[in-house]
Amino acid sequence: MPRQLFVTTALPYANGHFHIGHIMEYIQADIWVRHQRMQGSDVAFVCADDAHGAPIMIAAEKAGKTPQQFVADIAAGRKPYLDGFHIAFDHWHSTDAPENHALAQQIYRDLKATGLITTRTIEQFFDPAKGMFLPDRFIKGTCPKCGAKDQYGDNCEVCGAVYAPTDLIEPYSALSGAKPELRSSEHFFFTLSDPRCVAFLEQWTQDGRLQPEVANKVREWFTRDESGKAQLGDWDISRDAPYFGIEIPDAPGKYFYVWLDAPVGYLASLQHLLVKRGVDFASYMANPALEQVHFIGKDIITFHTLFWPAMLHFSRRKTPNRVYVHGFLTVNNGEKMSKSRGTGLDPLKYLSLGMNPEWLRYYLAAKLTQRVEDVDFTPDDFMARVNADLIGKYVNIASRAVKFLPGGRLSASDFGRDSAMQPTALVDLVRGHYESRDYARALREIMVFADRVNLLFDGAAPWKLVKEGGSVRAAEVCSQSLEMFKVMTACLKPVLPALAARAEAFLNIEPLDWDNAAKPMGEGHVVGTYEHLMQRVDAQQLAALFEPPPEVAGATQAAAAPASSAAAPTQTTVPSSAAPGGEPIAPTIGIDDFARIDLRIARIVSCEAVQGSTKLLRLMLDVGETDEQGQPKLRQVFSGIASAYLPEQLVGQLTVVVANLAARKMKFGVSEGMVLAASDADPAATGIHVLTPWPGAQPGMRVR
Ligand code: 2FM
Ligand code: ZN
Repeated sequence: MPRQLFVTTALPYANGHFHIGHIMEYIQADIWVRHQRMQGSDVAFVCADDAHGAPIMIAAEKAGKTPQQFVADIAAGRKPYLDGFHIAFDHWHSTDAPENHALAQQIYRDLKATGLITTRTIEQFFDPAKGMFLPDRFIKGTCPKCGAKDQYGDNCEVCGAVYAPTDLIEPYSALSGAKPELRSSEHFFFTLSDPRCVAFLEQWTQDGRLQPEVANKVREWFTRDESGKAQLGDWDISRDAPYFGIEIPDAPGKYFYVWLDAPVGYLASLQHLLVKRGVDFASYMANPALEQVHFIGKDIITFHTLFWPAMLHFSRRKTPNRVYVHGFLTVNNGEKMSKSRGTGLDPLKYLSLGMNPEWLRYYLAAKLTQRVEDVDFTPDDFMARVNADLIGKYVNIASRAVKFLPGGRLSASDFGRDSAMQPTALVDLVRGHYESRDYARALREIMVFADRVNLLFDGAAPWKLVKEGGSVRAAEVCSQSLEMFKVMTACLKPVLPALAARAEAFLNIEPLDWDNAAKPMGEGHVVGTYEHLMQRVDAQQLAALFEPPPEVAGATQAAAAPASSAAAPTQTTVPSSAAPGGEPIAPTIGIDDFARIDLRIARIVSCEAVQGSTKLLRLMLDVGETDEQGQPKLRQVFSGIASAYLPEQLVGQLTVVVANLAARKMKFGVSEGMVLAASDADPAATGIHVLTPWPGAQPGMRVR
């Protein structure tokens, strides 16, 4: 029976674009899912936007949008990243979708019926200017311990002290600057301190389903004080209106805290996928063999190993079989790529520079293990591993071997006599390492194998054999090298799906899986024509990747760090009517002023990245013009949209160009016009969107 797997990655907050830390997690999970599919497992691999919470509500207000519109705009920008890095989720949903509202409310009702929901009145800071209770991170003040000014409500970044917001000296609201008032409000709690919860979680977290270091870390919640009471306390699951979230049933003005409905989003996304596939959600979940697997980062362990399993168990639902925790991604032994700091390695920039997504997949895989360790990205190491290992050892075998194989026809081959060449053993080993998420070991084994193939190939020297009348032997050596190349391709397929597809086409074979991986193509099999499978990493691309984008540096920071930017006391919210899109409407002009601008429909005939620039794309546009011979004449336009589009997304599209703008000489050539695109005042927050006309418009038509 094939395994049935429900696999998720953590749901990213819908308040900014993906950073490289998200991409690493998705690649880790995607490799595992692809490995599962190669062994015939039936996998539902889903994710969603984590849409709710005060920070998103506040960021949306700041952008002059409804929270719904704000998160929809973020969601609309997800695809280029996922497609670009070959991350193949079966479905991407939103925690604000109707399924999630219904599921979260039902889980709450079930918990209530089990007697695990209670209410308590608590005192909290209230912003009288904004009319809302303030989350800890939106309260600032002077540290009670060291006197540092402008510290957050929960801890001091200067001396590291941890305290309650009420301990701050001269507290102020980071939203309005107003002095917050203490007000009381009734909150709802999930009583995790209930002996039933403690007993369940103590057993659940220590039964071997978690990584040992994770199980150890959560064990501290179960240490007892003298009265025998565990550390695990009740969990505050409610927030007061105004809040962007899901309403608590029968409790007007009360909403679920975002972390209550976020993991429910895993189920909502799955449910949506199953409905699309015509599969009954309840029966799918009722299958006792179903394995539920969550990939997450080490910062959200508590939510996934205590709160979430307790919510599921006590609402009589299936609990996760595995929670696979990874470390953070750091760059250059340096900074943590945290959720709030998107600095360092921008994934979209990586793609827009024309860097191969599979280089990054390979590099990250070469560093990922089943342990909760941080992974460091170092440019030199990246280049060495891709160029020397992946290309030098594996890719090159194919191009070298096919040269001495007349007509591409495989002959009988004899590397098999060498005990070091054991395809089945390699496949078994590698498969096991993928299963246990030790991708680093899987790739090490493959590279050791590649070394052996290269050694035997070089030892046999087919290029000499053909000159010395040994063509038959040369063909044998090359046939066997290609057989081994095929085995290694299968072994690398979870990591390098696109390369594997091209290699399968070259080898002229059926899609590789774990069953056919070690089977020889056999004597007489004819391989196709070899086309170069992968370029080497270019040092210039890497240099460009880490070149800071000067003019948007501030904007990127604001987009990536919504909490702290919203928290700056000087930034007050601009009423949306005064500043649509974040900036006021420009001064009035007459129709004559407008008529001076000649806007034309243009077809993007070709588009490419600009070597040496991380922002620009070079577009060749057909604006309906012809030269003296009546041949179509194209215009070259440089456009600063590389952060938003891959060249191939634009080719063939229609857009609007300012056709009478004076040509401008730039470092990279002359730009003969300007493509129109929409963006917020802060393009880094909401993206750049090239204009495109309705169907029927033709190149050269004037826009009036
Ligand atoms: O930490 C985060 O980015 C959260 N948005 C993760 C949520 S995971 C799940 F529970 F939804
Ligand atoms: Zn301090």
